[in-house]
Amino acid sequence: MAFSLDNFLHECRLAAGSQQDVRAIVERAVSDRAAVVRELGEPVTDDIKVLFQSDALTVLNVIWPPRVIVTPHDHTLWAVIGIYSGREDNIFWRQLPGAERRRIEAVGATSISDGDTLALSDDVIHSVINPLQRLTGAIHVYGGDVLGRPCTTWDPETLFERPGNGDSFSRGRPDDAPSR
Ligand SMILES: [Fe+2]
Repeated sequence: MAFSLDNFLHECRLAAGSQQDVRAIVERAVSDRAAVVRELGEPVTDDIKVLFQSDALTVLNVIWPPRVIVTPHDHTLWAVIGIYSGREDNIFWRQLPGAERRRIEAVGATSISDGDTLALSDDVIHSVINPLQRLTGAIHVYGGDVLGRPCTTWDPETLFERPGNGDSFSRGRPDDAPSR
């Protein structure tokens, strides 16, 4: 059956207790790029659209600007990312032990593009790059209310936790984004 936004959101809500099940639903959705574009539209401008929001689940349609960098942050919720247009390069970070606890170091990376999904556990710290000269279109599903939840961010130069943390995802438009 072709992707329908209503069906997709309904299935995600039923599966909200299981990241694995949500991943399978997102995987199926982004495997048919044309159908997703028919429902959500071809990405034309950067945007974060809320498709569904509750205490148990948030579904976002994220359109990243070209060449954007989103600096290191966490969500403290599991997430499933599905790409239907473009690319997201993720760098993964971890907090250093002991006295350096408020600082992070890079521990890995992955690149996802059209048709790919990525599952993030609730302890992930990541930064995200759209390396392309065009918009990237993604569906992001979070296992909770990511918009009402403060996230921690780290300074991209010093890699220390930023004072005055508490920006939520909704405010967390990429601070290194080129102005439009
Ligand atoms: Fe994120």
